[in-house]
Order: sequence, then structure tokens, then C-alpha cells
Amino acid sequence: MTDNTVTITDNRNGAHADFDILDPVVGNSCIDVRQLTSKLGLFTYDPGFQATASCRSDITYIDGDEGILRYRGYPIEQLAEHSNYLETSYLLMYGELPSAEQYQTFKTSIKNHTIVHESLMQFINGFHNDAHPMAMMVGVVGALSAFYHDSLDINDPKHRDQCAHRLLAKLPTIAALCFRHAMGQPPVYPSNELGYIENLLNMMFSFPSAEYHVSPIAARALELIFILHADHEQNASTSTVRLSSSSGANPYACIAAGITSLWGPAHGGANEAVIRMLEEINDPGEIQNYVSRAKDKDDNYRLMGFGHRIYKNHDPRATIIRKAANDLLDELETINQPLFEIAKQLERIALEDDYFVERNLYPNVDFYSGIILKALDIPLNLFTVVFAMARTAGWISQWSEMIVDQEQRIGRPRQIYTGIENRNYVDISNRGM
Ligand code: SDX
Repeated sequence: MTDNTVTITDNRNGAHADFDILDPVVGNSCIDVRQLTSKLGLFTYDPGFQATASCRSDITYIDGDEGILRYRGYPIEQLAEHSNYLETSYLLMYGELPSAEQYQTFKTSIKNHTIVHESLMQFINGFHNDAHPMAMMVGVVGALSAFYHDSLDINDPKHRDQCAHRLLAKLPTIAALCFRHAMGQPPVYPSNELGYIENLLNMMFSFPSAEYHVSPIAARALELIFILHADHEQNASTSTVRLSSSSGANPYACIAAGITSLWGPAHGGANEAVIRMLEEINDPGEIQNYVSRAKDKDDNYRLMGFGHRIYKNHDPRATIIRKAANDLLDELETINQPLFEIAKQLERIALEDDYFVERNLYPNVDFYSGIILKALDIPLNLFTVVFAMARTAGWISQWSEMIVDQEQRIGRPRQIYTGIENRNYVDISNRGM
């Protein structure tokens, strides 16, 4: 037995063994249970992996109690104030903020990969106009694997880098093409004259028939949304990308798997669900009814945008987004003030209610991000697509880290079997009704 171990004793038979404690740079220490089955014949049980570390990672650190979020050690508040999405993506991917030369080279590479193969338009045109853009994104991003499958050795760092640049560059193009298809509008191709976010807004909202100038206010607000959503440790969609990639699968298909997981209303789909909830509430006098429903155990209704698996204090992104939403609505003098007012009243009422306080249910990043996206006239069913574009930087960074992690193996959890133990086959003629 040494200082940095725990001893697990099976009290049913007295068997016991020591297990190393693995210490992080900062955060919770972990029990290394990899030998648990060989030493004690036991599995661990942790549905939803609430207390399970799936990997070692240098990328993002979250402290849920203190409301801390850092990308490669940089506080999200500083990156939100001083950085931009491409620079933040470089930081997540390569571990350091780029020099001016590195940043220029990176930007040029991304610009050179924004165009998609013209055949992809046939995928997009195959969808009905009312197809949900997230369904289109899952299909079209997954289809990218058909275009690059033969030129991708995931163990070759150059191939991994090319794949990462392609995904970062092409997601906005694909998202904009899906949006234009849904609107019945002609596609707008990427322009190398524009910045990353400006290019996305131009591809979404410009028309061949008229001059279109990207609003700097809109571009900065969307840039902030992208920075804040770029990565978030081992969340459901990132864990999906890691698990599907652990078999050596094509990374384009694995990013499509991440998009699929993000779509759920308990995860990235919450930003769309928040606005639908605020629109449904519509009248501040109705807020208490919705709060009561969320508290009612016989009603599976939940307040969208509240609660978080990790943040048991404030979500630092929500704090930043709330202020940005306030400033943006003032600057744009937009008509979305009523929704924002309902959001602020809902937040106040909920946070005075013991049910929410006792369960540490605070507004998360999705609670206010939808207010900004709506103020930018981004359609509601595209909100999670924005989240997916932004999270692509995190997904490809985490994917690349996993590929080179010597400790990583194919992800293969076990179970507690609760079915019928053993029985013999019965011919159909002898079975009951
Ligand atoms: C994101 O993981 C990440 O990092 C995700 C994310 C990222 O950047 O990748 O941060 C992005 O997904 C943010 C979360 C967006 N989702 C929502 O806003 C949907 C609403 N929130 C919930 O569904 C829920 O809070 C989760 C899914 C976010 C967290 O669920 P947990 O940690 O599994 O919490 P839980 O379901 O165990 O709930 C604990 C208690 C329960 O009550 P009791 O059984 O203890 O009585 O809190 C209650 C829940 O009923 N509860 C809520 C609630 N969320 C939890 N009650 C009302 N409204 C809610 N929103």
C-alpha cells in the first residue's frame, strides 16, 4: 500500500486490492480502475458516466463548482474578449496561441478548403425544403467521408491535419447550403475576401441581385457565440466523436455522429428549445405555471436552458452571453426585447425557487444564446447547426488528441446484466399463445 492509492475491499469475501490514484494538474483525482476486474472480478457502474473520466486531456478544463472554463489554460472570459473563432480553434487544435505568421498560414489553409465538391449539392437538393437542417447536416457531413476516404490515414499527422482543416472550413459552407436549400434560395459560394464568420453570414444572407454588407455588430456577436461553444471537455457529443473514432472509423463520419448527439434537446438542441419555450410562455404572467410544471415530478417537463451536468454554480458562458445579448438588443433596438424580458424574469423567478436552488439549476449557455441568434435573424431550426459549426473545433481537437493517446483503446463499456440467465429453445409448436 502507498500514499497515492485506495484500497477496495469486497466485504462479501474479504478480497481487497490497492488501486492507484491519478492526479490531474487541477481538478478531481481519479481512481485507476483498469485492473479492477482482473484483481477483484468487479466492474464499476456509472450510468451517464457522471463520475467517470474517459481519458486524459490537455484541452479544456471545467470547474463546475467555481464556474470556471479554460481552453488550454486560457480563461473563457479572456478569449471571449480578445480572441476570435479561428484563433481559438488554432489554440484548441495545437495547444498554443498562434504567432502572426502561424495564424496567417492557418487562415490561408482554412480559406483554401471552404469549397465543397459540387456533387454534394445533389445530396442537399435531395432533401425536401422542410427538412430540419440538423438532419441535413448529419447526412451531408457524413457523406464527406465518401469523398476523402482513400486519402486518410488517421495515424498520419499530415492527413489528420488536412481532415481537421477541411472540416473546420467546410462546415459553414455546408450549413449555409442547407439553409439556402431550406429557403428555396440559390447557393452562395464562399468568398476568400471575407473572414470566417463574415463568410458564413454572406453565404447565408446575401443575394446575387443586391449588395450585401455583413453587419460588424452581427459578425462580432456570432463570433462570440462560436468562441463560447468551441469546446467543453467530454460532453455527450464530444464523447460520441471519441467513442466512434476509437474503432478507427473515418473522422468525417465520426463528426457526423457528434452532430447527431448534439441535436438532442438535453444537449445542443436546447438553444432551439429555449426559444420555443419562451415563445410558448409568451406572457410573463404565465411564467409561474411553467416553473410549477418543471417542478412537478408527474410532469416530465423541464425548463430548457436550465441545469447542467457539470456546472453546479453559474455557467461562465451564460454570464458572458447574457451581457452580450443585452448589449446586442440595445444596439440593434430589435423587437426581440419581449423574449429577452421573459427570459430575465424566468431566470429571476426560477433562481428564487428552492426547487432550482437546491438542485443547483442555473441558466446554462443555451438559455441566452438563442436570444442572440434570434436577434441576428438566424432561423430557429438553424440554432443547433450554429452550435455544431462552433463545436467542430473542439470535436477535431479532442479526436486528434485521442488518436495519439497511447492509453486509448477501442471504447467498449460493460453492463450489469439483468435479463433471464439461461433457458432452452422451444419449438414454435410448443409455445403458448
Ligand atoms: C449543453 O455537458 C456539456 O458540457 C453540455 C454543454 C456543452 O457545451 O457541450 O454545456 C451544452 O448541453 C447544456 C445543457 C443544455 N440542456 C438543457 O438546457 C436542457 C434542460 N436541462 C436538463 O435536461 C438537465 O439539466 C441536463 C441534461 C442539462 C443535466 O442533467 P443531469 O445532470 O443528468 O441532471 P438530472 O437529470 O440528474 O437532474 C437532477 C435534478 C432532477 O430532479 P430530482 O430527480 O433530483 O428531483 O434536477 C432536475 C431533475 O428533474 N432537473 C430539472 C432540470 N434539469 C434537471 N428540473 C427542471 N428543469 C430542468 N431543466
